[in-house]
Amino acid sequence: MMTDVISANELKKIAPVFGQLSFDNHEQIVFCNDKDTGLKAIIGIHSTVLGPALGGTRMWNYANEWEALNDVLRLSRGMTYKSAITGLNLGGGKAVIIGDAKTQKTPELMLRFGEFIHGLGGKYITAEDVGMKTEDMDLVRTVTPYVTGISQDKGGAGNPSPITAYGVFMGMKAAAKYKFGTDVLEGKLVYVEGVGNVGEALVEHLHDEGAEVIISDINRERLEMIRDKYSVEIYEGDNLYAEQMDIYAPCALGATINDNTIHQLQAKVIAGGANNQLADENIHGTLLRERGIVYAPDFLINAGGIINVYAELENYGRQEIMRKTENIYTTTLEILSEAETKNITAHEAALSIAQSRIDARKNEN
Ligand SMILES: NC(=O)c1ccc[n+]([C@@H]2O[C@H](COP(=O)([O-])OP(=O)(O)OC[C@H]3O[C@@H](n4cnc5c(N)ncnc54)[C@H](O)[C@@H]3O)[C@@H](O)[C@H]2O)c1
Repeated sequence: MMTDVISANELKKIAPVFGQLSFDNHEQIVFCNDKDTGLKAIIGIHSTVLGPALGGTRMWNYANEWEALNDVLRLSRGMTYKSAITGLNLGGGKAVIIGDAKTQKTPELMLRFGEFIHGLGGKYITAEDVGMKTEDMDLVRTVTPYVTGISQDKGGAGNPSPITAYGVFMGMKAAAKYKFGTDVLEGKLVYVEGVGNVGEALVEHLHDEGAEVIISDINRERLEMIRDKYSVEIYEGDNLYAEQMDIYAPCALGATINDNTIHQLQAKVIAGGANNQLADENIHGTLLRERGIVYAPDFLINAGGIINVYAELENYGRQEIMRKTENIYTTTLEILSEAETKNITAHEAALSIAQSRIDARKNEN
């Protein structure tokens, strides 16, 4: 046992949760364990200042528990700022289930997970993220009302990914306008890394607009399916970051802009759907700015999904969903201009607007 080798006092010094670099004064962190179903999950509630903490559940085969904890801490924090900048009355939360979604996700495990969410009484509301499908949310809905992203035939707003991709497309167009003076993506060379739910829908928009699209994914089957469906090219090299391109669209997992990749990046614009694209927001955000690479902040441009699921809570329809998502174009342009005027990174500019909204609400209360 751990305590056999590390005394309680030493454990305290190590500060395994509150001492993590990614810990950002999160309100609550819930560890869920169920022996019978094999469920091991962590729910991170970063903030409930603007409303209940809403954010998807990710199921991933993490290398270890630290990785899972780090992910949930970063993701839930990102949700706080995503909802704040989008003008939604939601806080920030996220959940991770440790395991392989392809082989370890069972109905029993999902139901047990739903019961844990229910136990939080609405403080945390879940939805889909990597490794989850609309059917999983439908199942969770049978044990708790604190879930969004359920099927349209069950009264929900359906899979949020196409709307997320549409928002990313809007943000990408705005970033292109800023960098190239035009938002027309026809002829632009775009690398889409990760062609899952969001990546595929983004490829469709890019293909329709006449962009030159190159895709990459760790799933060969999916790559070939998307290539055949949209007549795009598969990246066969081993370091896409160093390739010449106009736009890099990270749509897999986070932290692909890191110490290893940042100096190699040849893209002129970065705009994608993945959460937490910058491994270190300050260091890598600043380096991108210094290198003249226009970065459309992830939590701003991938907010389409949360706009879509928020509709389930607020009862607004498709028209309003599209209006709010299209608005990502205008906000992205504003943020990029503001960053330039203030000589700060786009990430900092977006964060500061989101934080002012949170602070204003705190002062009202
Ligand atoms: N689904 C949404 O509405 C939504 C909303 C906001 C943000 N996001 C974020 O967008 C990203 C993608 O979400 P999704 O719903 O499309 O997930 P998904 O699971 O459907 O797709 C992820 C894809 O990335 C691929 N992948 C994983 N690691 C990779 C790697 N190292 N290189 C290349 N490809 C890799 C996977 O094989 C998969 O095809 C995630 O970061 C997610 O948090 C999703």
